[in-house]
Amino acid sequence: MNWLRYHIYPQNGELPVNWRKVFERNAKIRVEIGFGNGEFLVHMAKRSPEVNFVGFELSITSFVKAQKKFHKEGIGNVRLVMVDGRFGIRELFEDESVEHVYVNFPCPWSKKGQEKKRVTYGDFTKSLAAVLEMGGIFELMTDDENYANEVFLNFKESGFFEVEPIMVDHKRGVQTRYEKKWLSMGRHTFLIRTKKIKKADVERIAWGGKEVHQRIGDFNEEKLFPLIGKVFKEKNKVFVVKEVFSSKDGERYLVKIISSDDNFEQHYNILVEKRRDFWIVKLDSTCQPYRTPAVKWSVRKIAEEISLT
Ligand SMILES: C[S@@+](CC[C@H](N)C(=O)[O-])C[C@H]1O[C@@H](n2cnc3c(N)ncnc32)[C@H](O)[C@@H]1O
Repeated sequence: MNWLRYHIYPQNGELPVNWRKVFERNAKIRVEIGFGNGEFLVHMAKRSPEVNFVGFELSITSFVKAQKKFHKEGIGNVRLVMVDGRFGIRELFEDESVEHVYVNFPCPWSKKGQEKKRVTYGDFTKSLAAVLEMGGIFELMTDDENYANEVFLNFKESGFFEVEPIMVDHKRGVQTRYEKKWLSMGRHTFLIRTKKIKKADVERIAWGGKEVHQRIGDFNEEKLFPLIGKVFKEKNKVFVVKEVFSSKDGERYLVKIISSDDNFEQHYNILVEKRRDFWIVKLDSTCQPYRTPAVKWSVRKIAEEISLT
């Protein structure tokens, strides 16, 4: 079987993900954010074959290494999504549908001004309090004591979780790559374990209709090319036009976009294509983004900017 089969692309389908269909069975779901080389997922998936495991990562190298490991070990109960875990937790699961979420040795981003990069930043605690089952567990292990204390307080003060005292140098039957690295340097590990006791409501920004297209009567490419480099901003949505390519016959244009909803950045292309007596402006199917407000707005806005009618 293909070792790339673990990687799935939820942006191509409806949200939240129908995990029962993805795994072809109904089972409890556990999630690891930032799985790195996959040691923890391999261990957990083998130990609990009755559970479905979902991993979130941003690094392509980690995707390759982890998938090779799963394939070699013959693991069938893991699927991986290349997405920011903060977005993934909030947008890919129904309320109260996840049993356990793990984060192992996230980068603490401890310098001033870097807080927004932390995996626990923003509405993460609330998202967990929405998607975890009542009594569901969130665990985070780190080598950074200050960060551990901060996460501990954050969860305690949220009112949604019961937080156990921080466990120092706790052993779990598996050591991740970073755990080994820090322990070999004589550092300590700190484990925060919290149990959901109250449900939160969070707004999902990428749920709802997938279709995003605009029809325009006519357009002139002279209105399209000057958009290169232009930044469009509205509330917490922003997008920039990076490049524009045209086909030789002038009947198809590809507009490269980078958009962001709060801190969630996506790269994709908008297609402007001639039909019999009108033009269509839509997302190009080659690299599908999640249909967030910024993505939908970028298609509408480009159509508006280039339309002659
Ligand atoms: C320090 S490494 C730890 C890897 C692994 N958990 C371990 O313990 O060996 C942190 C990992 O988290 C990933 N990461 C960072 N921010 C992330 C995010 N917002 N969503 C998903 N993965 C993230 C990074 O790509 C990196 O592989």
